[in-house]
Amino acid sequence: MQVRRMSLDHLAAVVEIDHASFKLPWSERAYQYEMTGNSAARCWVSEVDAQVVAMLIIWMILDEAHIATIATHPEFRRRGIAKRLLMDALISAREEGARSAMLEVRAGNEAAQEMYKLFGFKAVGLRKKYYKDNNEDAVLMTLENLDDVHLIHGDAM
Ligand SMILES: CC(C)(COP(=O)(O)OP(=O)(O)OC[C@H]1O[C@@H](n2cnc3c(N)ncnc32)[C@H](O)[C@@H]1OP(=O)(O)O)[C@@H](O)C(=O)NCCC(=O)NCCS
Repeated sequence: MQVRRMSLDHLAAVVEIDHASFKLPWSERAYQYEMTGNSAARCWVSEVDAQVVAMLIIWMILDEAHIATIATHPEFRRRGIAKRLLMDALISAREEGARSAMLEVRAGNEAAQEMYKLFGFKAVGLRKKYYKDNNEDAVLMTLENLDDVHLIHGDAM
């Protein structure tokens, strides 16, 4: 598996993964903007045999890395792909100066929350009725010290 910067060549595959993964998917134009117009965005993909199997976008906001989206193609889940992708992206964010990380996740999304806990993320708050499709709450999770990320380095993949 290779972790690489997302490019416009990856757009169709990224949108396909997004649409297969989220009830409120982003448009192709949104991903295009993240790659070409959003200077805060760090866009990553994972490839297996030259096929894009996962994607991740982090927004660098001052010294905080905000995980904007992450998904693995349904046929490639539970193989450690998201763990490795998130780890590499967080290490890169730390190298760029990020000191902490945060994200919002659906209250009912146990798979993602379990993954974030492996990295040391902790639930610190709720955003009530954050998701407009079903009024589901968002759990706000933070990783206070990105230096702790190295703790799972040997664990992923
Ligand atoms: C969450 C998601 C990105 C995980 O991707 P993945 O490549 O399957 O994840 P990994 O194989 O690297 O697993 C990482 C850890 O997540 C947790 N996890 C993943 N899927 C899980 C599941 N179905 N049930 C419970 N825990 C799960 C586990 O802790 C797992 O570690 P383990 O395999 O050592 O137990 C994937 O399920 C996905 O794309 N979901 C839809 C999109 C989404 O919800 N994104 C998160 C938005 S906040």
